[in-house]
Amino acid sequence: MTQPSGPGGGLPGQSRVVLVTGASAGIGFHTAREIAARGASVLITGRDRRRGKDAVRAIAAAAGHARVEFIPADHSTVGVNGQLGEAVTERLGVLGLPPRLDVLVNNVGGIFATRTLTADGYEATLAVNFLAPVVVTHSVLPLLQASASPRCVNVTSSLAWLAREVPGDLLADIHTARDYVGIRAHARAKLLTAAWTLAMSRQQAGTGMAAAAVNPGMAWTAMTQALTPQVVPSWRYVYPLVRLFQKRGDPARAARVCAEVAWTGSLAEISGRYITEHGKPGRYPGVVADPAFQDQVVAVAWDLARDAATAAGHRGRP
Ligand SMILES: NC(=O)c1ccc[n+]([C@@H]2O[C@H](COP(=O)([O-])OP(=O)(O)OC[C@H]3O[C@@H](n4cnc5c(N)ncnc54)[C@H](OP(=O)(O)O)[C@@H]3O)[C@@H](O)[C@H]2O)c1
Repeated sequence: MTQPSGPGGGLPGQSRVVLVTGASAGIGFHTAREIAARGASVLITGRDRRRGKDAVRAIAAAAGHARVEFIPADHSTVGVNGQLGEAVTERLGVLGLPPRLDVLVNNVGGIFATRTLTADGYEATLAVNFLAPVVVTHSVLPLLQASASPRCVNVTSSLAWLAREVPGDLLADIHTARDYVGIRAHARAKLLTAAWTLAMSRQQAGTGMAAAAVNPGMAWTAMTQALTPQVVPSWRYVYPLVRLFQKRGDPARAARVCAEVAWTGSLAEISGRYITEHGKPGRYPGVVADPAFQDQVVAVAWDLARDAATAAGHRGRP
């Protein structure tokens, strides 16, 4: 991949500003650390303030500069996600930076073992893995539009391919009121995120903004450590083997592919692409490439964002 020049004609990396969601631990933390080490100013989010502050210290120490800020945010609600743009603008001010974001990495994700509802009354796996990236992106869009070469990197998963196990229409029973299985809910949410990424890349064509989906590959993180045979029933007979394989997944290595997509490559190399854990363009699950399906996915996101109980103050179409 070729390195683009830095916005404003500066040296590549020197003046870029990057937001990574869910980055006080796991793959997001390593992505933020890698990008900060390349010279970017980095903002990270997470729920736990202490973990966030510890992460800021570790990232700043590794990067050798102090342009690292933590924004406390629980990405499970539309209300918080819809207000992230304001919080980011405020933190950029603290860093003495103008209201501009060059890269957004929608990293936050998770799998809930049992069906859980958010404060919006939405199924949590869908809310955190799909709706959060959509609403966060909409919220910070004016900041991205202030960049000379903005990009939006959405962290998905090869598990999206398992969405074929979701019974019936992929957009029916969107909150999985019937037969909740964590891995299926996660697979569908990641597939919807991939479809929305392609819709965004179509919508943004000609504006100079790149949107890509990336699969970091397996990593031993809080999310994988919390998996049980209940979450992934199809693995129950090979579970010890799967665990062995998962434990070997280094989150720093997984983060490298996210950082690469966030940092390098031209618009044409990145936009609309699904980048695999090997850093190469890969194939989306079939239905994802269908523009009619992508439009349906965007409409679903719009309805969910509009109707959310916490949506007061959230305006406009995601
Ligand atoms: N790990 C894998 O094998 C793997 C494979 C493919 C794709 N992925 C994808 O990669 C991304 C990162 O995964 P990971 O394994 O690194 O996850 P992880 O270790 O569980 O992520 C932990 C980070 O996310 C934050 N977080 C979790 N829920 C949050 C919420 N509701 N709001 C705000 N922050 C939240 C945590 O901070 P707090 O707890 O303080 O909030 C922490 O900073 C996800 O999108 C995941 O689906 C992972």
